[in-house]
Amino acid sequence: MVQPTPRDKGYHTPVMVDETVSWLETAAHGWIVDGTFGGGGHSRALLDRYDDVRIIGLDRDPDAVANAFTDDRLFVIGANYRDIGAVLDDPLFPDVVDGILLDLGVSSHQLDVADRGFSYHTAGPLDMRMGPDANRSVGELINTESEDELARILRTYGEERFARRIAGAIVANRPFSTTTDLASCVTDAVPAPARRAGHPARRTFQALRIAVNDELNALSEFMATGIDTLAVGGRLVVMSYHSLEDRIVKRALTKRSTTCTCPPDLPTCVCGASPDFVLLTRKAIKPSQQEIEENQRSRSAVMRVAERISA
Ligand SMILES: C[S@@+](CC[C@H](N)C(=O)[O-])C[C@H]1O[C@@H](n2cnc3c(N)ncnc32)[C@H](O)[C@@H]1O
Repeated sequence: MVQPTPRDKGYHTPVMVDETVSWLETAAHGWIVDGTFGGGGHSRALLDRYDDVRIIGLDRDPDAVANAFTDDRLFVIGANYRDIGAVLDDPLFPDVVDGILLDLGVSSHQLDVADRGFSYHTAGPLDMRMGPDANRSVGELINTESEDELARILRTYGEERFARRIAGAIVANRPFSTTTDLASCVTDAVPAPARRAGHPARRTFQALRIAVNDELNALSEFMATGIDTLAVGGRLVVMSYHSLEDRIVKRALTKRSTTCTCPPDLPTCVCGASPDFVLLTRKAIKPSQQEIEENQRSRSAVMRVAERISA
């Protein structure tokens, strides 16, 4: 079993490390893009296991780049994984790679540093930008957007049942400047019986984070065109942490891996399906009970893996 180093434990404990390392074994002598480098726990495990591998680590968060460890086989770049094509235009790197890993969402570091404003538990500024490519903070969003738009964001990105009530309460009580003030306003807006199922502000914070970081568009764009940077035989490993992300990954991979659906008696294919990926995980993989007990943040993770079979 690959153990994260103490340094990784401080920044972020990587999820499903053994599974990631073994699915990416086919890239052991090639290039892997770790599109969400974070604390580098997955990259380090891959480098520890495979001597010949080379890794391009991307993260839009300058903290992740500044914290990166050094290794001759590792190149860490401040970039959004949606721009993977532009990154691979660099003559230092190949045009196509043998593996891509996405471990979506936020790192423990981002949640734990109060100044980043990701947590509803600790007081901090209403920021939540993962990096400088996000064009506005959560504070700017909630203090200026219309009630309708706020309700849409909470409903769409948080699947929040009380989106309209929460949006109304935000507009009535703004401006807000701290995470804890926003979290109390949301808690008060939610009907008392619903306050018992987890923190009442969890979905609101998730929705606002996704909105300011344009997370789902980045993922959709990557799944539509970014995965074309995989070489034939290359593997994609994606870990999602909520159903909105997983749905995008699942739909895109299903589309790319669907074989001909024409009735067998037709002489030639008319449906036009020509799969260039094969799904290697028919059902999503989840962390073991032991991992969930040891790392609560792994509990919502689901992993899907696909392999490119033609160009
Ligand atoms: C769950 S953490 C990754 C943890 C990492 N696998 C590890 O072992 O430490 C997610 C990281 O992805 C980064 N991230 C999220 N969306 C991104 C995007 N579109 N492009 C680049 N980095 C992104 C975040 O800044 C965060 O550092």
